[in-house]
Amino acid sequence: MKEIRRTKVADILATPADYIGKEVDVKGWVRTRRGNKHVQFVALNDGSSIKNLQIVFDLSKFSEEELSPITTGASIHVQGEAVASQGAGQAIEVQASELEIYGTAPADYPMQKKGHTLEFLREKAHLRPRTNTFGAVFRIRHALAYAVHKFFNDKGFVYFHTPLITASDCEGAGAMFQVTTLDPADPPRKEDGSVDYSQDFFGKPASLTVSGQLEGELGATALGCIYTFGPTFRAERSNTPRHLSEFWMIEPEMAFYEIADNMDLAEEFIKYCVNYALENCADDIQFLNDMFDKTLIDTLKFVTHNDFVRLTYSEGVKILEESGKKFEFPVYWGVDLASEHERYLVEEHFKKPVILTDYPKEIKAFYMKLNDDGKTVRAMDVLFPKIGEIIGGSQREENLEKLEGRIKELGLTGMDWYVDTRRYGTVPHSGFGLGFERLVLFVTGMQNIRDVIPFPRYPNNCEF
Ligand code: 4AD
Ligand code: MG
Repeated sequence: MKEIRRTKVADILATPADYIGKEVDVKGWVRTRRGNKHVQFVALNDGSSIKNLQIVFDLSKFSEEELSPITTGASIHVQGEAVASQGAGQAIEVQASELEIYGTAPADYPMQKKGHTLEFLREKAHLRPRTNTFGAVFRIRHALAYAVHKFFNDKGFVYFHTPLITASDCEGAGAMFQVTTLDPADPPRKEDGSVDYSQDFFGKPASLTVSGQLEGELGATALGCIYTFGPTFRAERSNTPRHLSEFWMIEPEMAFYEIADNMDLAEEFIKYCVNYALENCADDIQFLNDMFDKTLIDTLKFVTHNDFVRLTYSEGVKILEESGKKFEFPVYWGVDLASEHERYLVEEHFKKPVILTDYPKEIKAFYMKLNDDGKTVRAMDVLFPKIGEIIGGSQREENLEKLEGRIKELGLTGMDWYVDTRRYGTVPHSGFGLGFERLVLFVTGMQNIRDVIPFPRYPNNCEF
């Protein structure tokens, strides 16, 4: 091998004119090898692009034996001259002069060329990033994560790190994973037989967080505008294509924002992220569009080009009641809307993303601001085609007495630190949570949320 600096496949394919006529050094995994007795073509992928670089092996320079380890999945290092390609399908290819084989991939390599179902690939989640589909999904996921940080940074928001281990249940849904160092088979017990958590690691029961919001509010009522972006954990037994037990959430929280400001920010934020992906992941999105969902690009553009519909929960329920449609779950004022209801509003009635506001207080969390009607709270859910709820948020109750009243009503304890935000220098404030995987699901057009996170966690699955 000569002393040449390695070039990434994406760079060569992006500006072929810069490389034609020059010696290049490339490294990657073999997607396919085909050809005849005179010449062999290898499609090389190094993860930098959905596209492969064609490597041409002239059999007057390489023996068949030398090339025999080059099978799908093998990792190789090639040097040679980049030349304008004569074949259709690529502008540039590399005429190999040097070959080094890093690792072979015997015939039992599970990621053979094509035709694997997504279900099969989920069982091989340790190797599926090597497929075209998952390479595309994870590059898009990365771009969206970057877009999230860029959006908030450019607006002057502070990235505020909230804890993963917590002693409070933000959403009150009671579906938390416990964190303990006690021996489950023989925990210390109090006289009445209950577990003595004063001897546990934190001196009291602790869990993995379901949301960083409560701590986020502490940040917002000091720094003005903050956002969190981290993993959250929910032990719900929801085996659906839209739920994970471990998912990432982005939670902006803004002092002096009322519900309308909150809606404006949510809409601008989603549009920004979708647009960022359209502009920066064009090849990957095109691939997924062609492979899985021919309407994907149109749907994404539609969302970035159209205003979201805004209406109240009560108006939404009225539309559902008058729709004449037979739903699996009944609709009436006060019900927690099911995914089929949300999707009817978005996909059939309005044919646009919808922001639903002012939900009955009984079906929403304790911290939401009570409206003057005494029945509804200043909540907002952003509902998306195919996804259903992508964002949940609200204006927060900033009134000390009302918040304390709600906490008492629901029997919550250990919230003094949170209530202090209302005791000292309380301000109107709002925020929301975007489920990151639901955004990735939307932008990639994948059908199952387990296919947009590298190593999904869901009931009865903790592989890899
Ligand atoms: O609506 P949720 O439960 O809201 C909160 O947690 C608030 N504390 C947010 C806030 O106001 N700061 O969750 C927010 C979003 C949902 O809209 C959904 O996109 C996503 O998180 N989400 C899930 N995503 C994947 N798997 C699950 N099990 C999810 N549960 C919620
Ligand atoms: Mg919600």
